[in-house]
Amino acid sequence: TGLVTLDSGYGNTAAYKSAITYLDGEGGVLRYRGYPIEQLAERGTFLETAYLLIHGELPTVDQQAAFKDEITRHTLLHEDVKRFYDGFPRDAHPMAMLSSVVSALSTFYQDSHNPFDEEQRHLSTIRLLAKLPTIAAYAYKKAIGHPVVYPRNDLGYVENFLRMTFSVPAAEFELDPVVVNALEKLLILHADHEQNCSTSTVRLVGSSQANMFASISAGINALWGPLHGGANQSVLEMLQGIQASGSDVDTFIRKVKDKEDGVKLMGFGHRVYKNFDPRAKIIKAAAHDVLSALGKSDELLDIALKLEEHALSDDYFTERKLYPNVDFYTGLIYRAMGFPTSMFTVLFALGRLPGWIAQWHEMIKEPGSRIGRPRQIYTGVVEREYVPIESR
Ligand code: CMC
Repeated sequence: TGLVTLDSGYGNTAAYKSAITYLDGEGGVLRYRGYPIEQLAERGTFLETAYLLIHGELPTVDQQAAFKDEITRHTLLHEDVKRFYDGFPRDAHPMAMLSSVVSALSTFYQDSHNPFDEEQRHLSTIRLLAKLPTIAAYAYKKAIGHPVVYPRNDLGYVENFLRMTFSVPAAEFELDPVVVNALEKLLILHADHEQNCSTSTVRLVGSSQANMFASISAGINALWGPLHGGANQSVLEMLQGIQASGSDVDTFIRKVKDKEDGVKLMGFGHRVYKNFDPRAKIIKAAAHDVLSALGKSDELLDIALKLEEHALSDDYFTERKLYPNVDFYTGLIYRAMGFPTSMFTVLFALGRLPGWIAQWHEMIKEPGSRIGRPRQIYTGVVEREYVPIESR
C-alpha cells in the first residue's frame, strides 16, 4: 500500500486547513475566529456568533440587522413540508425527522443545487438558519400530538423557537427570560467545534459537490450517535438509570472501570480535550444558576455532581485524562426548561448549524479543494479463483 498509513479514527490526520475554530485540547482552550468562547457565551448572541463563524467577523449594527431581517423572512416552512410529519410515526425520534426534513428541503429549493453559485449558497445559508428551529419545533409538536405553531417575525431567534415549541393555541404564552438566556448561551457554546464527526461528515459529503441541504442532513445523522451529540440524551438516561438503582454511584463507577457490558461514563472523555472541556465548565455553572433561577431542584444534578467528583479522583479516569465534556451537564438544563430527553440532540443540532454551514462554505471556497476520499489498508485475501456454486 505504499505511503498509506493507518490512522484509526483519524486521531492524527488533519484533513483540512481551517480558519474558523481554534482548539487547544491540552490547555482546554476554544475560540471561534479568535474570540474566546467564554466571552461569546457571556456577552454575545447566537445570531452574531453564527454571523462570525460564517463571515469571519462579528457583524456591525447594520450587518446584524440585515442578517436578522433576512433570516426572519425565511422562517416559515412550505405547507407541504407538514405532510412529512403526518407520515412519520408518532414515536419517531426527532433527530430522524430533522435530518429527513432538512434533506427534503433540496426538493423544495431546487435553486440550491449548485455549490459554486454564490447567490444559491447565500440563500441556502439563510434558509437553513431560518428553518431549522421551525423544523425542530414541528418535530416536537408531532411527538406530543399538538398543532404546529407558526413562526413569528417580531421575536428573536431563540424566543421564536421556544414559542413554536412550547406555546399552544389555547393559552397565552409567556417567555421566561431565564430560559431564553440559558438557551442562547448553550447554542453559542455548541456553534462550532472544528473537525468533529458531524462537521467532517458535512465536509466529506459536501466535497462531492452535493448541495448544502444534503450535506447538512448527513451531518445531523452523524451528530445523532451516542458517542457524539447523542451523548446528551445518553447522559440523562444514564443518570436516570443510576437513580432507579437507588443512586448507587460507586457501583456504577465500578462497572465503568471494569468495562462491564461496555458501560461508559457518558458525557466524559474527548478525542481532543485532555483537560477540562471549557464548554463544560461554563455549562456546569449554568446548570446551577438555571435550576435555582427556575426554582427547580433535580436529584439527577446531585447524582451528576457525585459522579464527577468520583471520576475526577479515580485513577482510571485521571490516567486516561477523562474529564466532563459539553454533554455532561446540558441535559439537566434542557430538562429544567421542559424539553423531553429525545429533543436534547436536536438542540445540539440547532446550535451546531452555523458551524456546519461555515465549514461547508470554507471547504467549497478553498482553492484546489478535492473530494474527500480516505485510503485503506486491505486485509482480505489477495487473489483466488472463482469456484462454481456446485463445488463450494
Ligand atoms: N467512560 C469510560 N471510559 C472511557 C470513556 C468514558 N466516557 N471515554 C473513553 N474511555 C476510555 C476508553 O475505554 C479507553 O480505555 P483503554 O485505554 O482502557 O482502552 C480510553 O479511555 C481512551 O478512549 P478512546 O475510546 O480511545 O477515546 P476516543 O478519543 O476514541 O473517544 C469519546 C472519545 C468522546 C468517543 C469517548 O471518550 C466516549 O465514548 N465518551 C462517552 C461519550 C460522550 O460523552 N461523547 C460526547 C463527546 S463530546 C461532544 C460531542 O462530540 O458531541
